[in-house]
Amino acid sequence: MLSFVFAESALELVPREICGHPAVASDASRRGMKAGEMLLDRSFHHTAMAKLLDSEKRGRPDLVHAAMLSVTATPFYLEGRVRLFVHTYPGTVIEVAEKTRIPKSYLRFRGLMEKALVEEPTGGLLRVRKARFPELVKTIEPGRVFGLTVRGRLEGIPEFAANVVAMKDPCVVVGGFPHGHFSAEVEKTMDELVRIDSRPMEAHVVAARVVYEIEKATKGFND
Ligand SMILES: C[S@@+](CC[C@H](N)C(=O)[O-])C[C@H]1O[C@@H](n2cnc3c(N)ncnc32)[C@H](O)[C@@H]1O
Repeated sequence: MLSFVFAESALELVPREICGHPAVASDASRRGMKAGEMLLDRSFHHTAMAKLLDSEKRGRPDLVHAAMLSVTATPFYLEGRVRLFVHTYPGTVIEVAEKTRIPKSYLRFRGLMEKALVEEPTGGLLRVRKARFPELVKTIEPGRVFGLTVRGRLEGIPEFAANVVAMKDPCVVVGGFPHGHFSAEVEKTMDELVRIDSRPMEAHVVAARVVYEIEKATKGFND
């Protein structure tokens, strides 16, 4: 079974250190919510985010939404052939139950994720736990971990997909962040770093292309 991970994803609740910032407080009052129970979102909290560590990698839940949809809308995923995990920047893992459909509406997605990150359910469609990336990989027990990054060795997507399906229980990792690179901790957990195009692309484009090629390669491998 293929495990697909979005790593260090830009999806998290507003961190405590900026809950009192005016940009966050006014958004919380507008939404009638506690600041620390809302998703950090650069569209609303830009000025408050300036002081955050790795600010450029964080606060883009819209991008994580698009990335998750690009996997969960594929026939391969809907056939139950992909396990999907979202590892977040602060070290929370959201495991999506097999064949779960993610809301296409961003507002519904935001509500779902806020509830999941606050309540941290251990069962149901979204299972949430605290785990750093190496711990997550240990629990997945993959045959090989393929990290996709512009810092990797250039390989065509069909060749990459053929290598993935040749492995038992492969794990493919895409960064769920808008800018920057994998942290050293995440990078050193990968067995292989691969670049699938000379051009940098958005996470949702990479994910959709890779899942499709893996689906095609799986058919070729089994025939
Ligand atoms: C928007 S990019 C992050 C920005 C980063 N500078 C980059 O391109 O690696 C999101 C993720 O898409 C994947 N990605 C983007 N372009 C890629 C490429 N040409 N080859 C492999 N992975 C790519 C990586 O996993 C990356 O972390």
